[in-house]
This record gives sequence, C-alpha cells and structure tokens, in this order.
Amino acid sequence: MELGLRGKTAVVTGGSRGIGFETARAFLQEGANVAICGRDTIALDEAREKLSPLGNVLAIKADATSRVDMERFALKTAQHFGGLYCWVNNVGASIKRAGEQYTPEEIRKTVAVCFESAVYGCQSAFKYMKDTGGAIVNVSSLAARCGTAGRSTLYGPLKAAVRELAVMFAAEYAAYNIRVNTVLPGFTMTPTVERTISSEELAYNEEGTLLRRMAKPEEIAWPIVFLCSNKASYITATSLEVSGGRSVVLNPGFSYGED
Ligand SMILES: NC(=O)c1ccc[n+]([C@@H]2O[C@H](COP(=O)([O-])OP(=O)(O)OC[C@H]3O[C@@H](n4cnc5c(N)ncnc54)[C@H](OP(=O)(O)O)[C@@H]3O)[C@@H](O)[C@H]2O)c1
Repeated sequence: MELGLRGKTAVVTGGSRGIGFETARAFLQEGANVAICGRDTIALDEAREKLSPLGNVLAIKADATSRVDMERFALKTAQHFGGLYCWVNNVGASIKRAGEQYTPEEIRKTVAVCFESAVYGCQSAFKYMKDTGGAIVNVSSLAARCGTAGRSTLYGPLKAAVRELAVMFAAEYAAYNIRVNTVLPGFTMTPTVERTISSEELAYNEEGTLLRRMAKPEEIAWPIVFLCSNKASYITATSLEVSGGRSVVLNPGFSYGED
C-alpha cells in the first residue's frame, strides 16, 4: 500500500536509535524526506550514514526538552526541505524509581523529557503546518493505560498526559487541517531495552502478552507512519495501542493451552 508520503517531509525527535530510528527508516521507505534529532552527535552521524542510502536525511543535534532547540530544529528542517508535513514526538524516557524516591530534580527531568518535549514538538510543528496541513504523532506508552507500580512511577501518568495533550492539540489545530494522534507502544526490543532488561523480566512480559513476544521497533514505527499518512486522513484525536495484546485479559495463556 502506497501511503502517499512521497516527497513530503517528516520529522522524528530522537531518531538516532530504537523506535525513532525505525520510524525514520519507514518514512524513507515511503519516499519521504526525513529529519532526525538527538543529543549525541556521534550516534546521529551513525544513524544518518545508515539511513542515507534510503533517501534524503537531515540529522541535527537538538535537545527535545529545549524549546529553543526544537524551534531551531523545525526551522532548519523546513529551510532544508522546503516545509514539513509530519512530526513525530518520539523522545521520552523513564528512570527506575518508586514514587516516594523521586527527588525534585528527577521529577523535573522526567516531566521535561516525557511531557515538555511533546509540547515543544507540537508548538514547533504548528508554525510550519498551519498553512499546509499536516500530521503529528505523540509516542506515549502502554504505561499510560497500565503502569508499573513501585518502578518508574511517574512515567505512566506522564505518558497519559502525552496522550491527552494530543487530544487538546488535535482540537486546537483541526481548523488548520492538522491531525494529532498518539501511539501507545508495548514492550519493544530497542537497544536500550535490550541492554537493561533481565531474562526474568522478559519472560514475565511475554507471558502477559497475547502474542507472547516483545515488539520489534519497526512494528511500532509502521503504525506511527500510517497515522501520519493520508491513508489516515479521517483519524485525529485518537490513540492506537500497539502492545501485542498486553494486559487485556486475566488469562493470557488461554490460547496456549495453559488455562
Ligand atoms: N522501548 C519500549 O519498550 C517502549 C515502550 C513504550 C513506549 N516507549 C516510548 O517510545 C519512545 C522511544 O523509545 P525507545 O525505547 O526507542 O528509546 P531509546 O532507544 O532510548 O532512544 C531514544 C532516542 O531519543 C533520543 N533522545 C533521548 N532524549 C532526548 C532528548 N532530550 N532530546 C533529543 N533526543 C533525545 C536518543 O538519542 P540521544 O540519547 O543521543 O539524545 C535516541 O535517539 C519513548 O518515548 C519511550 O518512552 C518505548
């Protein structure tokens, strides 16, 4: 299915690895121009080298928690490609803490990386989409519906806020023909997760998932790209959970003959 993104420009925040990198790759496979950002220039250069054979890629050092950086990133992208049409607010991160353990500084950092980054992304995108229309996708998490108690406690509530943020911006941008949606990924085998997850945790997560495995990053990327495309032209202010059916029934092993 041709998604109608050929020649359009797509921005992915945090595109040097993981879900963001695969989203950039998927956009390129659809013929879009792609701009990615991150904080580490070496990782960005490596990502650009890997992606460049697929199409036009711009990689810019920018911190998504800085409004100035996001505005500069949007401006450079629009100048380089002559406008922009899709924007993916992919940056987000959690730290392992129970609710009572967060220091004020850790709270500020978590709010900045999970929530403020999405606000600055929407604001920066709007400037260049308001005359042409466009599509924004916020990357939230399954944790917005179903978080982990005692660990990364603030992550779920903030990812729920990111989802609600998309609804508010969808309402405010509708008259400009800008659609805003959210994707809620389940556990996804990104390099960061691969490095940090124990085999026990992996098995526990897989057993709670109807499809009995973690997602590959590209399995999150394609739903994001679809929501940005004209094939999703009547979809706005909604969220799409891509979790392989995690935590939806009390007996996820039924289909495997375990109940
Ligand atoms: N992996 C999962 O299981 C999972 C599940 C649900 C939701 N999610 C969500 O999906 C998104 C992507 O997750 P991921 O696992 O692919 O992450 P990841 O592998 O840790 O990659 C994060 C990307 O974002 C960049 N980044 C991080 N902080 C940034 C900042 N302040 N400004 C600019 N770039 C920044 C990183 O590059 P630099 O470090 O060089 O900046 C990197 O390119 C996140 O919002 C995450 O919360 C992930």
